[in-house]
Amino acid sequence: MTDILGEMRRTHTCGELGAEHVGRQVSIMGWVQRRRDLGGLIFVDLRDREGITQVVFNPDTSREIHDKAHAVRSEYVIGVRGTVERRPEGMTNPDLNTGEIEVVAEEIRILNTAQTPPFPIEDSADVSETIRLKYRHIDLRRARLQKNLMIRHKASASVRQYLNQNGFVEIETPFLTRSTPEGARDYLVPSRVNPGFFYALPQSPQLFKQLLMISGFDRYYQIVRCFRDEDLRADRQPEFTQIDMEMSFVGEEDIIRVSENMMATLFKDVLGITLELPFSRLLYQDAVNRFGLDKPDLRFGLELKDVSDIAESSDFKIFSDAVKNGGVVKALNAKGCAEFSRKEIDALSELITVYKAKGLAWIKIRQDGWQSPIAKFFNEKARQLLSQRLETEPGDLVLLVADQAKIANEALGYLRNHLGSKLGLIDEKQFKFVWVTHFPLLEYDEVEKRYQALHHPFTAPLESDYGLLRDDPLSVRSRAYDLVLNGSEIGGGSIRNHRTDLQKKVFETLGMDPATYEEKFGFLLSALDSGAPPHGGIAFGFDRLVMILCGQSSIRDIIAFPKTTKAVCLLTDAPSEAGAGQLDELHIKVDR
Ligand code: AMO
Ligand code: AMP
Repeated sequence: MTDILGEMRRTHTCGELGAEHVGRQVSIMGWVQRRRDLGGLIFVDLRDREGITQVVFNPDTSREIHDKAHAVRSEYVIGVRGTVERRPEGMTNPDLNTGEIEVVAEEIRILNTAQTPPFPIEDSADVSETIRLKYRHIDLRRARLQKNLMIRHKASASVRQYLNQNGFVEIETPFLTRSTPEGARDYLVPSRVNPGFFYALPQSPQLFKQLLMISGFDRYYQIVRCFRDEDLRADRQPEFTQIDMEMSFVGEEDIIRVSENMMATLFKDVLGITLELPFSRLLYQDAVNRFGLDKPDLRFGLELKDVSDIAESSDFKIFSDAVKNGGVVKALNAKGCAEFSRKEIDALSELITVYKAKGLAWIKIRQDGWQSPIAKFFNEKARQLLSQRLETEPGDLVLLVADQAKIANEALGYLRNHLGSKLGLIDEKQFKFVWVTHFPLLEYDEVEKRYQALHHPFTAPLESDYGLLRDDPLSVRSRAYDLVLNGSEIGGGSIRNHRTDLQKKVFETLGMDPATYEEKFGFLLSALDSGAPPHGGIAFGFDRLVMILCGQSSIRDIIAFPKTTKAVCLLTDAPSEAGAGQLDELHIKVDR
């Protein structure tokens, strides 16, 4: 039986032919990147995922082949048989790894035609993301995205190999399950056979991996999809991938060591970079005090300073009141920024309103003293103290925020990141890893008026802080750790509560009564009672990691079929309305 390929079979990809192949008969297949008619000769750049090869059609070889070549258009799919020849003097292209040769065609097969693409298949093409995502199958033909997905593949292969070699077992866990509280909303799936009942898609395999430890599957891993209905940003997707791990008979240091070695292997395999081990560490409280955030970017300085004591005794009421009311005044010295215009400072002030800061005070340090709307509220002594603490020099700009510690830190923390890139202080080639440890176990949710687990409710408190659980829960520290890379939280985990009494105590501190936690987590408590080994683990945000490995700034550029910030897939138009019949089967009525 003959088909459109006939006898033609691919001998090489479009990325591998070089000078060493000159004289060889080859067949290559791919997409027409470009066709140029130069009088007699026709040149076609043929593209596949490995690269681009130039093909030449000479009218003297065969009129028929030449005519066919004349008919091809961008993105036609063709196969070409021909001979590899060295390009004439002066015609080589050092930008292409196939740039020394061309294939002189002796046969062409048009395997398929193509509509004119909505945008050119070039990285430089200026196309809106809406169009790119609508035609994602075409967008993915572009070199940058091809490269990103190849790096993603290499990264998962490296991680799998490392974990397999280190005694980890890959085990799948259910997608149709019960809610796992990781702090986001659940995606619910109605059960047809149980009318009125719903599964939740897992926010992570957290409880299943703990159950696997209890079953004896020490050293579990899974490269697994997680689902979270949360507000999306440049580094968040509603479905994303984790490298999820759990180990038994371990403490923090064991998990940290395995994770560091895995990262070192990954960076070596994918980027050829040798990471320096061990990674640096910061206590949560120090990270927040010095950098404002629990995911500090350590590629630059600009540390925050607490100036509450100096501000409290100033005559600036906003500052002194803030401190009297239990808040703080934090400051950062933007070195050399005294020449910022009013407009620039207003823009910084605007930026931090997102983090609920009420204002941004500023002081320009001049040769002859302070220039600032709040200068008059500070006497000479206070000015000196402030200058000392912030190590100011003429030409600096001091930025201050007075508020509750959480708001002041966060506002200045993000402002610090903004200034780091605005002032060009970030070396994009650096990879600065840091472990942040000793997180608080709980935080207080002002809206819900109750305590919430900072990580998740299965995280163990630090043993030395058990005593505080009842009377001072907010100062209890946990056995949780996050791995931060260049200011991005790329992973987090903890040692878990493996004893029932401790797990119940944590549930109670979170405001759950026994009936509630038995209803929600009875299966876990019963499992813990069946002989649970001490265990702990971690999960890495694989998409974020790959984004950094690829040097990209949007998570969407390293996911084949991502969703928009409105959680929509523009290619398939999901989500969509369900048919009335489907809803009836599910006993669901939509009320909008
Ligand atoms: P956590 O909730 O910290 O921990 O998630 C682990 C890592 O997953 C990444 N991540 C995301 N990436 C993209 N889009 C999202 N919406 C998103 N949400 C989280 C982050 C984060 O560090 N079960 C625990 C882990 C454990 O305790 O072992 C967990 O899921 O990089
Ligand atoms: P006002 O007295 O409201 O004009 O404020 C004087 C300056 O203090 C302005 O530059 C405000 O942006 C700034 N400011 C107001 N509230 C705060 C605050 N909570 N922290 C820091 N600066 C503030």
